[in-house]
Amino acid sequence: MGVKEHVLEILEQRRGEAVSGEELAASIKVSRASVWKAVNALRSQGYKIAGVTNRGYCLMGENNLISREGISAHLQDEKKYQIHVYDTVDSTNTRAKQLAAEGCPSDTIVIANKQTAGKGRLGRNFYSPPDSGLYLSYVLRTNLRAEDAVLITTAVSVAAARAIQNLTGQEVKIKWVNDLYYKEKKICGILTEAISDFESGCIEAVVIGIGINLSTEQFPDGIRQTAGSLEIDMRQISRNMLAAAVITEVSGLEKMICNRSFLDEYRERSMVIGQRVSIVQQEGRIVEVLGIDQNGGLIVKDAEGNQEVLRSGEISIRLTKFTESDSMK
Ligand code: BTN
Repeated sequence: MGVKEHVLEILEQRRGEAVSGEELAASIKVSRASVWKAVNALRSQGYKIAGVTNRGYCLMGENNLISREGISAHLQDEKKYQIHVYDTVDSTNTRAKQLAAEGCPSDTIVIANKQTAGKGRLGRNFYSPPDSGLYLSYVLRTNLRAEDAVLITTAVSVAAARAIQNLTGQEVKIKWVNDLYYKEKKICGILTEAISDFESGCIEAVVIGIGINLSTEQFPDGIRQTAGSLEIDMRQISRNMLAAAVITEVSGLEKMICNRSFLDEYRERSMVIGQRVSIVQQEGRIVEVLGIDQNGGLIVKDAEGNQEVLRSGEISIRLTKFTESDSMK
């Protein structure tokens, strides 16, 4: 860690408090001139650091800048995580997969301010302009059995919805399988990718990619029709705070999955149960959603009254307008 990162780490831990140049220099074991240089470099990056006469430097207010130090200041158990923050990457999932292949530990996290090739489910793109969202990938090395691993996708959506709602108070709904909606627009997408050992066939790690929109200002009109964003003032609730909340919830994923406790919350947050949906991959096929089974599958009934369970892998659904009068048998 360089002097600048050290200074930021201390100021983030003691945000709103003045820390003397002398104390900073002593704890980082550098000269006061180096501290002064680091403070100026941080200021030019956009950090508001006040110089308080005779008392030192004080980091003011929240801002929209993402940093490892800023996230760590909001984590309970910050030493558990390895956090990598980038300004620009192609995709945080791709970078996280590289790190996993190089042997990074579990609970490694990759975050970027902007993605040039953000990936969505089923080969789609995920539009990721700068300063507008949280683009985060979490590497989890897991011993989950195959029958439990199928629930990762479902559980992540509950974890992300909880993190957002606890922090912002905004009510977040889930559209099967793991799109999060706020006020009927998609505000978060999740892409989970498994890294398997080719010889044993076992899952070595999963990379959980979460993209949350915080502003749609830079979105083209076409995307803005369906994509929404959380309504938060990023100076009050920063991306660092949101990242810490998401990381904390996702870190408890294995426990959630083992006791299946999250499934009821998933059902409560579901915006498709009782609705008619069309199946994108089966042109024109419309079914009514009856519920979610214990493995996260979608229980549906077609016009002939036949029931089946849809699994998420290759299937996505679209909501259609549903009224009492055209309710299915
Ligand atoms: C979807 O809605 O289809 C899933 C979108 C997942 C987007 C996130 S952003 C962070 C991570 N990196 C990626 O390239 N994709 C995921």
